[in-house]
Amino acid sequence: MKDLIEIHNLTKVYRSFKGAREVTALDGISLSVQKGEFIGVMGPSGSGKTTLLNILSGVDTPTGGSIHIEGRNIAEMKKDELALFRRKRTGYIFQDFNLLDSLTLKENIALPLILDRKPPGQIEQRVEELMQFFGIAELADKFQYHVSGGQRQRVAAARALAPDPAVCFADEPTGNLDSKSSAGVMDMLTQMNEQKDCTILMVTHDAFAASYCKRIIFIQDGQIAAQIQRAGDRKVFFDKILEVQSVLGGDSR
Ligand SMILES: Nc1ncnc2c1ncn2[C@@H]1O[C@H](COP(=O)(O)OP(=O)(O)O)[C@@H](O)[C@H]1O
Ligand SMILES: [Mg+2]
Repeated sequence: MKDLIEIHNLTKVYRSFKGAREVTALDGISLSVQKGEFIGVMGPSGSGKTTLLNILSGVDTPTGGSIHIEGRNIAEMKKDELALFRRKRTGYIFQDFNLLDSLTLKENIALPLILDRKPPGQIEQRVEELMQFFGIAELADKFQYHVSGGQRQRVAAARALAPDPAVCFADEPTGNLDSKSSAGVMDMLTQMNEQKDCTILMVTHDAFAASYCKRIIFIQDGQIAAQIQRAGDRKVFFDKILEVQSVLGGDSR
């Protein structure tokens, strides 16, 4: 089977104004992701997690290396082509939801499909199906300030899934939530992964959230320092994550 995402020798160097200072944020990352995986990216603060996610999701561009998603090298795409690719083939779940205040929750979910000029009947059907799946059908005509953080995150997830993307990216999706809501969001991501066959790449500093993943990539100084695969029970995996973190050192934030 061909890999869904193939990252080869990815580098990112930030150059300050006039090139006085250089920061190597990513230093030769190579990684293959199969369809249906649920991957967590962990590592200390400043290790390059957000940079990696931003480059994979097309928000930022790499300095070197290649990233193929569904066989297409996004590192070589022109701006317009990349924007279109992002909208059609990737979903993004943000820490602070990024829902629009002036739209109903249903309209928020429909937005990527409206931007993509899908036929209204098709949009209606897709949005209905996703609202049922996420258990938020009764919230359709409410606005985001009417609902809880956990419910907003479900709406954001439904919006991310709406275009049926090849991969969903999430940057600290539990970052603003209490532990009960965090467990709810992680159950939701697990459902997306297992029932909707959604490939997920999630950045988190939280070992509890990470324990829901099937594979964890630990990065340090812009390089992959370790990888672990979940074999069975989530609690066993949680302990394994803590163990790797203590071996690698750092605060893992
Ligand atoms: N826009 C930027 N300009 C310059 N340096 C940056 C920029 N964004 C991130 N960095 C630097 O790149 C490194 C990796 O940052 P980041 O990817 O945000 O790490 P993490 O998400 O793991 O905390 C850090 O040293 C950070 O200071
Ligand atoms: Mg970050």
